[in-house]
Amino acid sequence: MARENFGSRTTAIMAMAGSAIGLGNIWRFPYMVGQNGGAAFILVYIVSAILLCIPIFLSESIIGKRTQLSTFGAMEKLAPGSGWKWMGFLTVFTPLIILSYYSVVGGWSIEYFIKSLGFAFSDPAVSRTEHSAIFGGFITSTWKPLLWHTVFMLLNALLVVFGVQKGIEKFTKVTTPVLFVLMVVIMIYSLSLPGARAGVDYLLKPDFSKLTGSAMLSAMGQAFFSLSLGVGCILTYASYLKKDENVLSTGLFTAGFDLFFALIAGFAIMPAVFAAGIEPGAGPGLIFETLPYIFSSMGQSAPVVSGIVAIVFFITILFAALTSSISMLETGVAYLVDERKMGRVKATVILFAGCWLLGVLCSLSFGPLRDVQLPGGTIFDFCDKLTSNFLMTFGSLLFVLFVGWKMKKADVRDEFTNGGSLKANSRLFGFFYFLVRWVAPIAIIVIFASNLFL
Ligand code: PHE
Repeated sequence: MARENFGSRTTAIMAMAGSAIGLGNIWRFPYMVGQNGGAAFILVYIVSAILLCIPIFLSESIIGKRTQLSTFGAMEKLAPGSGWKWMGFLTVFTPLIILSYYSVVGGWSIEYFIKSLGFAFSDPAVSRTEHSAIFGGFITSTWKPLLWHTVFMLLNALLVVFGVQKGIEKFTKVTTPVLFVLMVVIMIYSLSLPGARAGVDYLLKPDFSKLTGSAMLSAMGQAFFSLSLGVGCILTYASYLKKDENVLSTGLFTAGFDLFFALIAGFAIMPAVFAAGIEPGAGPGLIFETLPYIFSSMGQSAPVVSGIVAIVFFITILFAALTSSISMLETGVAYLVDERKMGRVKATVILFAGCWLLGVLCSLSFGPLRDVQLPGGTIFDFCDKLTSNFLMTFGSLLFVLFVGWKMKKADVRDEFTNGGSLKANSRLFGFFYFLVRWVAPIAIIVIFASNLFL
């Protein structure tokens, strides 16, 4: 049975944190900050994380824990015969689109991990601009990025087919804290670089003229992306929670840690971006240009240390990326297995093929297909913006509307407070309900509209 993979309580919580913490924090957050003008973006991101993400996270958790089903079945159970169950499709397709381009970046991390094994970044003879040129040459080439995208997708599919999430969880219990500690080390180092000050100012001094409607939507989208919201991943994992689990503390823990992780990554990358004279708006390649600079400057005084930091850093990133990408594929597989009664292997193979193919197009959009322009930019940019700014936002809106307006208030309270037994939750319920019913939907709609009209 597919659903037994996350039998235990800590496994489900670890899985949620594993899904949340990934390339979104380390790769996407810094480049989004750089593309959208720095501190003002971060401000909207933090406010969204607190006022919107927490209620959305809790809404998904409440639906999942109450029904113990994934989105399609859960909506049908709570609102039988209504159209809500069709949300199931949104939550199957969105993570699969995300997975396609996420896997491309996962592939880049594999390439950089392999490079780090040869101590490629501690060679003082290779300059910053040469590292950037090497990266540029790599992503614009045809075959190598495709090879690593395929390897990343295969790893992902194998982990999902064999249901070895429990095994992975054992690793991530170690690798996530290690990655976190390394991030802090890199942050301290990065802050000490000459010229880092400009990067700190960039992160802390808001320039509100940069806060366009599209920057606000991107900040909100990034907050949703980072916590895996609006796509049923949290809902599905919450369906494995035990009945007496406290959704509020799970939500606060996951959201808090995820936010903190992203901010640390921002402070690790941005000062070095400025110190190295890299363009902050460089786009998806930002960290892959900046990290070699950090490791090679570190290498000038301590080559062995920097070499080892680089290796451990890239391998732990890979684990973080995999625990997120597993959740994307798992959501689709759970749907096909639970609702369509398909075998687990068949379901995984079908979804693998679809995502791999779309990923190929995303990967080629840095090279041979770079001239194919869609709304939002290249094929890669299109998939990225479509999912984080639109589909995840829309999905999140539907989840809060469902919990705030469709579910019975008594049921929501029952799940939030575990039948009244959690005293602190009972006291906070009114506030939570207000956020879910009014603040979150209105804010999502206003930010969304500001993108269209401002
Ligand atoms: N939250 C993940 C990250 O930060 C990405 C993700 C998005 C995972 C959507 C699942 C669903 O990397």
